[in-house]
Amino acid sequence: MKVLVATEKPFAAVAVEGIKKEILDAGYILEVLEKYTDKVQLLDAVRDADALIVRSDKVDAEVLDAAGQLKIVVRAGAGYDNVDLEAATAHGVCVENTPGQNSNAVAELVFGMAVMAVRNMYNGTSGSELKGKSLGIHAFGQVGRNVARIAGGFGMEVSALDPYCPDEVMAEAGVKPVHDIRSLYRDNRVVSLHIPATAETRGSVGYDLVTLMPKGGVLVNTARKEVIDEEGLMKAMRERNDLKYVADIRPDHADEMEAEFAGRVFFTPKKMGAQTAEANINAGIAAARQVVAFLRDGVDRYRVNK
Ligand code: 3PG
Repeated sequence: MKVLVATEKPFAAVAVEGIKKEILDAGYILEVLEKYTDKVQLLDAVRDADALIVRSDKVDAEVLDAAGQLKIVVRAGAGYDNVDLEAATAHGVCVENTPGQNSNAVAELVFGMAVMAVRNMYNGTSGSELKGKSLGIHAFGQVGRNVARIAGGFGMEVSALDPYCPDEVMAEAGVKPVHDIRSLYRDNRVVSLHIPATAETRGSVGYDLVTLMPKGGVLVNTARKEVIDEEGLMKAMRERNDLKYVADIRPDHADEMEAEFAGRVFFTPKKMGAQTAEANINAGIAAARQVVAFLRDGVDRYRVNK
């Protein structure tokens, strides 16, 4: 059995070592394809793979067509919008993610970016503190919960909106449940996005919500660029020169935004929320273990397709 790790953005070397150990101990072969620049390289490598471990790498119908022996794809991470679930199901391929394994890393970056925003991108001018400010968490999954935990240390007042999460879970974490999306944006100085990119959420955060934010509002996006309606956000930022937007990945209109809203936007060059040795080790080894459990014992606890 061959397990292929295909990562355009590689794991830390120590994580690859950990993955290797899991796979070799199970008696399987490991192939690692890193930093590939052409899809053809992935199509070639996947041809005789029984299992595939990826990060944000695109696993579409073409990749699945090329992978005649493939039984499982594990997305080492949370969001699986990069995998064509319908095509995988049609090919009889199980798709899994590794929920929670990289969430602390992403949550820490939220604060790295929030502090940067309220300190005026470290430009030397007087900024403000997070202590005592209100924080709205848009979706209370694994990352959102870690964000709430860290916000407690900063002394922020935290509320969250998540129709899929019971109020009691938020209350236990010291977070005020919010049920109206407009209130989440209207009442919070900092809003942190943790919604997945789905048909429902694509372009769902734009002008109408962002203009509701209080004076000095900061929108932090460590989720996906697709959830933002960029034109709407830009319209809001044009009308309100107090608003700031910081995101872990460059938006489609990044150049335009950097020129027009200089000092009010910041974008990482490459998605780096989960780019820590710890997150790579956690998610990578979890993915390897899930592959082995599936191939050896048929365990599919983290399956996300039908
Ligand atoms: C995730 O969905 O787990 C994060 O966005 C991390 O993605 P990455 O593995 O591409 O860094």
